[in-house]
Amino acid sequence: MLNRIFLACVFLALYCACSPLSCRWMDQKFRQHSQNSLDLLDGMVNNSTNSTKDEKQSAVAFPHHLYSHVSKASAEGKLAFTVHILREISALFEDDYSSSSWHETTVENFLNVVNKQADELHSCIKGHAHMKKKHNTKLHMYFQRLSHDILKKMGHSAEAWELIRREIKVHLMKADHLVSTVLSS
Ligand SMILES: *[C@@H]1O[C@H](CO)[C@@H](O)[C@H](O)[C@H]1NC(C)=O
Ligand SMILES: *[C@@H]1O[C@H](CO)[C@@H](O)[C@H](O)[C@H]1NC(C)=O
Ligand SMILES: *[C@@H]1O[C@H](CO)[C@@H](O)[C@H](O)[C@H]1NC(C)=O
Repeated sequence: MLNRIFLACVFLALYCACSPLSCRWMDQKFRQHSQNSLDLLDGMVNNSTNSTKDEKQSAVAFPHHLYSHVSKASAEGKLAFTVHILREISALFEDDYSSSSWHETTVENFLNVVNKQADELHSCIKGHAHMKKKHNTKLHMYFQRLSHDILKKMGHSAEAWELIRREIKVHLMKADHLVSTVLSS
């Protein structure tokens, strides 16, 4: 009996060690946090800006090709990409958002969720050291353009932030979809 339990433990340990991704938080909590971040972002909408009426707007093209590329990547590759997206989103808020009239706590709540997601997904690819270091230059350039060609050029106005908010929303939805393809449940 004890022997059998011991064997079961050994198998379990081996299975966990060999499984490419063992990440309970991601399986159980990611979608919930994802929904939470989208709800918070929806609450930050500014219908008084002109950019809401003008749908084609953005001076920076959305990087659809990067998403279609990463959709063929390994599970670790997808998570590394998602972590990068979340970190870049978070970094955008280092720019001045005072014209948006968002409360600091509103932005903090949103960033807390996004940073939690990034940290947890990052820990899922622990042990995949090569993935952690992997840096997507094109993705980084795209976020630089958001900061430079939209926020800076438009003077960090409420209009600029509304454009960024909507851009971020598309990323969060796509990231949610991407992660859902690697969930084990
Ligand atoms: C903004 O507009 C959307 C769609 O028209 C509406 O559902 C939402 O309640 C509005 N939000 C605010 C804060 O006015
Ligand atoms: C928004 O649009 C209105 C009329 O279309 C215009 O008068 C106003 O100056 C615009 N505001 C900004 C901030 O562009
Ligand atoms: C919404 O946008 C207007 C400018 O169009 C700005 O004056 C106002 O502070 C913004 N409100 C929020 C909550 O961001």
